[in-house]
Amino acid sequence: MAEKVVHKSWIIQYNLHSIVGILLLFFLFVSFYLIRDNIDGASSILANKPTRKNSSPRCDLFSGSWIFDNVSYPLYKEQQCSFMPDDFACHKFGRKDSKYHYWRWQPYDCDLPRFNAKGLLEKLKGKRVLFVGDSLNKNQWASMVCLIESSGIPSLKPPIWKGNLITFEVKEYNATIDFYWSPLLVESNCDDPVKHRVRDRIIRIEAIEKHARHWIDADILIFDSFTWWLEPQMTLQWGSFNSSDAIYKKVGMKLRRYEMALRTWSDWLEFQIDTKSTRLFFMSLSSSHKNATDWGMGNDENCYGETEPISTRDYWGSESDRKMMEIAEASVNGLKRKGLDIQYLNTTQLSEYRKDAHPSVYKRNWVAPTKEQLLNPRKNADCVHWCLPGVPDVWNQILYAYIMDSSRELY
Ligand SMILES: *[C@@H]1O[C@H](CO)[C@@H](O)[C@H](O)[C@H]1NC(C)=O
Ligand SMILES: *[C@@H]1O[C@H](CO)[C@@H](O)[C@H](O)[C@H]1NC(C)=O
Ligand SMILES: *[C@@H]1O[C@H](CO)[C@@H](O)[C@H](O)[C@H]1NC(C)=O
Ligand SMILES: *[C@@H]1O[C@H](CO)[C@@H](O)[C@H](O)[C@H]1NC(C)=O
Ligand SMILES: *[C@@H]1O[C@H](CO)[C@@H](O)[C@H](O)[C@H]1NC(C)=O
Repeated sequence: MAEKVVHKSWIIQYNLHSIVGILLLFFLFVSFYLIRDNIDGASSILANKPTRKNSSPRCDLFSGSWIFDNVSYPLYKEQQCSFMPDDFACHKFGRKDSKYHYWRWQPYDCDLPRFNAKGLLEKLKGKRVLFVGDSLNKNQWASMVCLIESSGIPSLKPPIWKGNLITFEVKEYNATIDFYWSPLLVESNCDDPVKHRVRDRIIRIEAIEKHARHWIDADILIFDSFTWWLEPQMTLQWGSFNSSDAIYKKVGMKLRRYEMALRTWSDWLEFQIDTKSTRLFFMSLSSSHKNATDWGMGNDENCYGETEPISTRDYWGSESDRKMMEIAEASVNGLKRKGLDIQYLNTTQLSEYRKDAHPSVYKRNWVAPTKEQLLNPRKNADCVHWCLPGVPDVWNQILYAYIMDSSRELY
């Protein structure tokens, strides 16, 4: 008995020694790489891969918290983005506070890789990246253009608008980063890239070809579609616009019609996309902060005047519809099962916390504010889109992590 105990403790000591040894080796190994990278002038070993903090098998980039960090953030300054649309240029339109610039998204289990525009473009050489969707997707596209412009890549030309498509070409790398306006993905009477403030929405729920033929040669496609589906009533249409035998039906059924449209979208991808060479992403819904009762403020308040993120862990506002998220998730999973290279980027939770990061009244007004809005600016606040620099930069950091992750460790 006693002998056994002695024996056991000897094993433990022996194991302790080997653990110390392994740690020492590990330390030497890591220092070697750090030193080598510094000599090479590379930024750090964190450059392209998310680094894991513990032994958790998966690196979940979507669960985490916002940490104040005025050293490494923002990733660029608003003035460095000469191509930024006025909708997101909050400082230019009078926003004075800037704390909202200085937040870093810190996943619980790992670190986000540092965004490296040149590394990304190296990977995108000869390729076409295309963001497809509504103004929130455009918000993300604009952030990507800012991230690239601010990295000092020479001789960049302003993006070119042509119909629903905006093309941003990076000549030096023979790469294009485009945006395509198609807020409901399928065809609708909201498809005009400029004049689309339509309340009476008519959706051709089974028609997508008119848009989708512009997507077919993209190497990486990033989709979103949510906000435009929230109208209580919409008209669904079968048959072509203005044709005498078209069938129209006005419906509520918010979930059902979303499901139908995503079915049309999925079917198109399944049959038309080259599954071997095309990478697809679907952005989860973007949070809005129109109703301050969600975070314990008054009923007549919203994101206007907010300067701090929400710190309650797992905070979830009333405007983010989980049922609609589940429909989008099911569509993405269906495509995955059919062998498409598609990833759902679940950025909703991280955006939920950021009631401070919307333009509110600091944006270009496309329609002159009413008397009532001038008296009460809250009524003219945009609590849907995001100031840049801001939250969409983090969506792009996550997208970047996935694009750079060739060995598919994030999947
Ligand atoms: C960062 O924030 C800290 C604390 O608010 C402040 O003391 C410091 O001066 C700031 N640094 C920069 C570079 O803004
Ligand atoms: C640029 O990329 C396209 C493919 O997108 C390719 O056809 C073309 O030859 C490339 N041009 C140069 C100069 O590399
Ligand atoms: C449908 O008809 C209206 C009025 O005749 C016209 O303005 C519109 O451009 C037509 N729409 C399509 C998609 O052909
Ligand atoms: C905000 O949400 C509360 C609680 O759900 C609701 O009673 C109120 O009507 C909402 N306010 C607005 C302006 O929609
Ligand atoms: C996306 O995130 C939400 C909030 O954290 C979570 O409830 C949902 O299950 C996630 N969906 C997927 C597919 O991971």
